[in-house]
Parts: sequence; C-alpha cells; structure tokens
Amino acid sequence: MTKILYAQPVRDKIIVDLKSRIKILKRKNITPWLKVVLVGDDPSSHIYTRNKKKFIEKIGGKCDIIKVESSIKELQFRQLIESLSLEKGLHGLLIQLPLPNHLSHIDVGNLIDSNLDVDGLNSSNIGELLKNKEPGKYFCPCTPKGILTLLQYYDIPISGKNVCILGRSLIVGKPLANLLTNYNATVTTCHSKTENIEECTKRADLIITAIGKPRFLTKKFINKSGNQILVDVGINKTSDGKLCGDIDFEEIQKNVAGITPVPGGVGPMTILSLAQNLLQAAEKSL
Ligand code: GUN
Repeated sequence: MTKILYAQPVRDKIIVDLKSRIKILKRKNITPWLKVVLVGDDPSSHIYTRNKKKFIEKIGGKCDIIKVESSIKELQFRQLIESLSLEKGLHGLLIQLPLPNHLSHIDVGNLIDSNLDVDGLNSSNIGELLKNKEPGKYFCPCTPKGILTLLQYYDIPISGKNVCILGRSLIVGKPLANLLTNYNATVTTCHSKTENIEECTKRADLIITAIGKPRFLTKKFINKSGNQILVDVGINKTSDGKLCGDIDFEEIQKNVAGITPVPGGVGPMTILSLAQNLLQAAEKSL
C-alpha cells in the first residue's frame, strides 16, 4: 500500500509544542514577530505570504506583510530592508522570492542580518549548515528543514540511503543536499545539464523534485521495486488553474512506497519550519 505523506498530522503534532513555547515567551512579554517583504503582484507569492501570516498568527505570533510596488528602485529596496532590520523587537525578516527581474540579482540572504534570517539564506547560516552545526544553533532553510521533519515523522530512513534531488536552487536543492548529507545520506543532485537523469532516479531510495515543471517525473523515472519514496516540492499551476507538483501523482502513486501530495505536502511543512525558526529567533532574546 502506498503511503501518502500528508503534512497535516506532522503539523498537528508540532503545533502543540510551538503554542506552549509561545505561551512561555508571552509570559516574559515577548511575542515572536516576523516581517515579510512582498514585492510586486505575483499571485502565488501573495497566497504563500498570506498562508505564512495565517499560520504565525494561529500559533500566537505576529506577522506583518510589507507590500512593495514592483517598480521600486534597487537603492530604495535596499534602504527599506536596512530600515526594517533595525526595527526594535523584531525577530525575523524575510524577503519573499522570486523578486522582479530588475532586483533578482540581489543577494537577499546577505541583505538580512543573520540573527533575523529565518529563511536561512545568509552566508553565515549557509556556512553553519555546511559545517553540520547542531540544529537550533543556526537557521536552516525552511523547505529542506520541513522535508527532514516530514521524513522523520513518517520514520523514513535517511542514513545510508541513496537520495536523488532534482534541482540545485539555493533555497531548496543545494541546502537540502547538504542537510541530508549531514544525516548520512548519499546524495546526488541533478539539474538541467545532467545527462541521464533516469539512471540516477532509478537508483535512488528517495527522490526529491524541486524543478517547477508540472508532472515532469513520470513512471519512466522510477524503478520497479515499489519501495521508492517520492517528495514533491513543486507547486505548479496547470492550464485549468489547478495546482500540481513536479511529479505525475496519478500515474506514479501506486508504484511507490510513499509520496507527498500537492497541495498538502511540502508546502505546509515549509511554513511550519518558518514558524519553528521564528520561535528559535525569539527564544534567543530571552
Ligand atoms: N518563495 C517560495 N518559497 C520561499 C521561501 O521558502 N522563502 C522565500 N523567501 N521565498 C519563497
């Protein structure tokens, strides 16, 4: 039987811990506070940031979305982030990605102080991940952290396993490869220039897709064992306005041991990780 790896039970379990930690903070007059900078009017980014705010507020935190016109000049944008970083009592600052083309070259991680960098994109946090620092001693990027939490909840072994990651982005593929290596997986990262992706995916115990290509991963990429685990980071819109992942869920689901759904899989886990990182930041101020 294929196991569908839903985020909901993981969230239900972890939310209890988050709420009780926030209660302790509030007794000391600390409310975990996040600011999210949202540039332009990309509909998906608006939905994601709204979901982040909703979840942070649900657990008792505070979240402001700072909406900025897509026409903002680079200098003004940099000044805005600098002034937001100086806000007293703020615990986390996040710039929603992607940015409009004229700002997309900016190294956003390094615009944000490493202590406010709940996205884990600052060079210092990335460095600590490479060094395999203890969890809680740095901010781990939210999607990789969420995937790890999901795999651990469902008792999916990582140590000694072959993992194939499709996608080498700074926000998912690269940090995820490092994080799972820290947990003793043997990781191969595939990308647009990889020759013979199928060879790698067929060999893997665990396949993680983060390429933003609707239903890219079909039956021809998996082996016949029925033992593989598939994690889908993609959230793509189809021509009829529905959401689908990078994996052809319908075609593949009966041929694997476990698979994450889209929506309801990695997306909510990313938000959960963000809340965990925000609490970690707030607890530092105790
Ligand atoms: N856009 C899509 N996912 C993310 C994320 O985890 N962080 C930021 N900052 N932008 C995103």
